[in-house]
Amino acid sequence: MKTMKKKNNIVLIGFMGVGKGTIARALYKETGLFPLDCDDLIESAYNSKIKEIFAKFGEDEFRKTEKKLAKFIEKNVDNAIISTGGGFYKVPNLKKLGTIIYLKSDFDSIIKRIETSPNAEKKLAKRPLLKDLNEAKKLFDKREDEYEKVADFIVDVNNKSQKTIALKIKELIKDKI
Ligand code: S3P
Repeated sequence: MKTMKKKNNIVLIGFMGVGKGTIARALYKETGLFPLDCDDLIESAYNSKIKEIFAKFGEDEFRKTEKKLAKFIEKNVDNAIISTGGGFYKVPNLKKLGTIIYLKSDFDSIIKRIETSPNAEKKLAKRPLLKDLNEAKKLFDKREDEYEKVADFIVDVNNKSQKTIALKIKELIKDKI
């Protein structure tokens, strides 16, 4: 069987609210590579918001769709910046999708970032797994090591501007794009 060469995508992983979409857009400015957001693609496929997909079809269906999307990306997408949902890192073919960058922050800073943003309520409401902050913290503790394990690079995003983070990532992947 023909094995596929590793893709030139930049894949941003990390916890909910860490700023994957924002950094993907900042990277677009720095690299000209187009950002694709996994949650946006799933919402578009279902013509429903993530929250509604969870409520109507359940989390399992959402996770299956993430896996399906990961296969689609592996087969069809290259030279893009891919921002993922916080649980997407678990797809079995993650490493084949491109260079995996973990945007790292501590839990309190992530929650503070969301709560102090201009559309805080919307940001909290659209994320079913952030409904209960104690549960979210448990999820964070469980995932922290797993994000680090699958990452090619870890980028600390605390107290850094979008531009600084984007330039740092650009430097890390300079041989790849
Ligand atoms: C999830 C994160 C969300 C979204 C869904 C599940 C998770 O994306 O995919 O609500 O399991 O962490 P963001 O990381 O963009 O919030």
